[in-house]
Amino acid sequence: GKDGYRHFMEKELHEHPLVIGQTLQRMVDPASRRVVLPDLPFDLATVPRAVITACGSAFYAGMVGRYWLESIAQLPVDIDVASEMRYRNPPLTAGSLGLLISQSGETADTLAALRSLRQKAVHILSVLNVEHSTMARESDVVLGTVAGPEISVASTKAFTAQLTVLACLSIATARARGTLDALAEEELVAALLDLPSRAADVFAQGDAIRRMAAIVAEARDVLYLGRGSMFPVAMEGALKLKEISYIHAEAYAAGEMKHGPISLIDRTVPIVASAPYTPLFDKTLSNLQEAKARGGRLLVFTDTKGAERVSAIAEDMVVLPHVHEFAAPILQTIPVQMLAYEVAVLKGTDVDQPRNLAKSVTVE
Ligand code: F6R
Repeated sequence: GKDGYRHFMEKELHEHPLVIGQTLQRMVDPASRRVVLPDLPFDLATVPRAVITACGSAFYAGMVGRYWLESIAQLPVDIDVASEMRYRNPPLTAGSLGLLISQSGETADTLAALRSLRQKAVHILSVLNVEHSTMARESDVVLGTVAGPEISVASTKAFTAQLTVLACLSIATARARGTLDALAEEELVAALLDLPSRAADVFAQGDAIRRMAAIVAEARDVLYLGRGSMFPVAMEGALKLKEISYIHAEAYAAGEMKHGPISLIDRTVPIVASAPYTPLFDKTLSNLQEAKARGGRLLVFTDTKGAERVSAIAEDMVVLPHVHEFAAPILQTIPVQMLAYEVAVLKGTDVDQPRNLAKSVTVE
C-alpha cells in the first residue's frame, strides 16, 4: 500500500535515501570503500568507446552517465534515445561498450537498440531495475539498481538508483583506464556514501517546494535550465512536470537560452534552475541574471554555497546541503521531482496514473 502517503509517487520519492543506500551497498565494498563490479566478460581498460541508449528518464540518467564517463574516465561516449539509435546505423568499433538503461527491462525501443548493438559485436551492459526482464536475459552483464518495485508511472527512485550505478561504473572505468588515482577515487566514493543522509535532508525543504509549486501550477509554460551534469536534471524535471501535471515545460542547457528561448521570457513563464555550487555555477548565474533582467521569475534549486550568490535575484530557493560536484546531480534530482509532484497535487491530476501513459512501453 501507500503507507500513509497520498500517492505511490510520494511514497517512492521518500524512498530515495534508502534506494541510493541499497544500490551503493551492492557496488561499494564497505571495508576498502572501493567500487567492486561483478566479473565482466570484457575489459573496461580497453573498450574503445561507449554507446549509451535508453528512453525517457532512463535516457537522462544516461546523459549524466556520459558526463561522468567522459570527464572522469576519459572514455569517448555516443548517446541517443533508443528510438533513434535503433535506426541510426552508427559506425561502431567491435568491442565497444553498449550501455543500456531501463527500469522495466521491457521497453520495446531499448530492447531493439540492444539487439542492434549486439549485431555489431558490441558488449552489452544493462543497468536494470527488474532483474528478470527480457533485457536482462539478452545482456552480457547486468548491473542492478536496487530500487524495488516502482508503482507510480512517473519514475522517481529508479532514476536516482540508475545514476548511482552509473556513478560507480564511471569510477570503476576510470580506475581501469588509469585516469583516477586512489586519492581521487576515495573522494568520489565518499561523496556517494554521504548521499543517503544528504538525500534525507531534502525533505526538510518541503515548504519551499510547495511555495514554488503554487507558482508553477498557475503557469502554462515553464522553462527548466541547467548546465553540465545539471542539464539532464533540468530535463528530468521538465519531463516529470509534463507527465503528471500536464503543464508544458522545456529544458534548456542554460547557455543555449540566449540562442532562442530567451524571447519567451516574461513574468508568465517561471524559470526553474538547477544550480548547485559547482565549477559551472558562475556561468549559470550569469544566465539567470539575463533572465531576471527580462522579467523572468527565478525558482532556484541550489545549495548552501550557491544560495549566498543567487538569493538576491531568486524569487524563491530550495537550498540543499553542499555536496561534491560528482554527487550533485543525484541529490538535485530529488527536489525537482518533488516539485512536479506538488504541482500535480495542486492541479488535482491522477498523479500515479497520468493520462495516455503506461508504466512499461512494450510497443514501438
Ligand atoms: C518518466 C518515465 C518514462 C520512462 C521510460 C523508460 O517518468 O517513467 O520516461 O523512464 O518510458 O522506461 P524504462 O526505464 O522502463 O525503460
